[in-house]
Amino acid sequence: MRTQVAIVGAGPAGLLLSHLLWLDGIDSVILENRSRDYVERRVRAGVCEDPTVKLLRDVGLAERLDREGLPHHGIVLRFDGEDHRIALTDLTGRTITVYGQQEIVKDLIAARLKAGAQIHFEVSDVEVHDVTGDRPRVTYKDSAGAVQEIQADVIAGCDGFHGVSRPSIPDSELTVYDHVYPFAWLGVLVKAPPANDELIYANHERGFALHSMRTPEVTRLYLQVDPSDSLDQWSDARIWDELHARFAIDGDFSLHEGPILERLLSPMRSFVVEPMRYGRLFLAGDSAHIVPPTGAKGMNLAVHDVLVLSRAFKELLQSGRTDLAESYSDTCLRRVWRAEHFSYFMTSMLHRAHDADPFQHRLQLSQLRYTASSTAAATSLAENYVGLPFP
Ligand code: FAD
Ligand code: DHB
Repeated sequence: MRTQVAIVGAGPAGLLLSHLLWLDGIDSVILENRSRDYVERRVRAGVCEDPTVKLLRDVGLAERLDREGLPHHGIVLRFDGEDHRIALTDLTGRTITVYGQQEIVKDLIAARLKAGAQIHFEVSDVEVHDVTGDRPRVTYKDSAGAVQEIQADVIAGCDGFHGVSRPSIPDSELTVYDHVYPFAWLGVLVKAPPANDELIYANHERGFALHSMRTPEVTRLYLQVDPSDSLDQWSDARIWDELHARFAIDGDFSLHEGPILERLLSPMRSFVVEPMRYGRLFLAGDSAHIVPPTGAKGMNLAVHDVLVLSRAFKELLQSGRTDLAESYSDTCLRRVWRAEHFSYFMTSMLHRAHDADPFQHRLQLSQLRYTASSTAAATSLAENYVGLPFP
């Protein structure tokens, strides 16, 4: 089989890249090792930055997002038993939209299939070959177990943190920046209305907690837990006790309990490889970088990467010019490092390390109070949170 762009991974990065290329008249094939049902149900991100939403609108993918997504004009920092609102829209003129990543994935898959795209689900043994030459290839086994080969002009490695693209690049070609945090998140999806219209980021002595939502009937909640914890250590009763304790304030507030529909444990890590390219293999999204979830940046970075990559591929494949392909990695890494810093900042300000001394806690409180009371500090948080404009 021959195509212009072989894409490994049908997450937000791979699917959106395929759509953007299609709009430019460029042909692609997507290989995904999970089933369509699995990728459409995988609950992960919830916060879409303003530039992400604008891009999805510009490329005809926001019809349902505009109908069902929840625009937010502020977030709440909860500490010292009180709420402090960061007025995102007043401070920046922009909003964020709460719309589940799996809904974006469903919309993308539907749009791609409607346009006649080739997405091969449930493939296995994907391998990339000859990426330093002019004729790169991808081999894989299709869902029936038959070996297949795709010849392409370029390959996009959009296969997430645990994919095969990044490990196929020789170690000597990449510089790795890796930071593991002493925290993990336990996330639950609950069939009950959110207890507040806006997200609440709570710094509590028992650890961080986050109140978010998916719809007016479904709440999304997260707890900071120990990275060595397993899900079976967290009964429903323990989860609710901990959530109620961490969200308690000096005033009226109570979470709405309901059946837990989904639960996940997610370790927290910052990881970046440089450069995001090796020959004709280009990495995009989580395959090249991950951030701790506190800043809500991972999916948004993946969207930016593939926007830049689609422009580079268009120039390369339609006019043979290599300028944008050559600057791809540097252009993306500038935004990646801003997001790495912001996510680190949010994580450090809001989580309690087991071994944190009173000095560190005083610093956290000072940063929280400053952010809540200074327009300059709040604006800095807000402009990063809503997302700096795409180039
Ligand atoms: P992925 O979504 O990981 O997609 C990669 C795809 O490649 C997958 O479908 C996978 O099955 C496939 N694949 C893997 N290996 C292979 C292989 N060998 N062959 C073929 N296919 C393969 N981000 C935000 O922007 N906002 C948020 O609010 C937010 N909240 C989050 C909360 C949590 C708890 C977590 C865990 C993450 C959150 N994120 C958030 C991060 C976000 O989910 C990721 O950054 C995003 O999924 C990255 O998209 P991607 O397409 O690069 O990778
Ligand atoms: C959600 C996830 C995040 O990482 C975050 O910072 C805010 C909200 C969510 O899943 O809704």
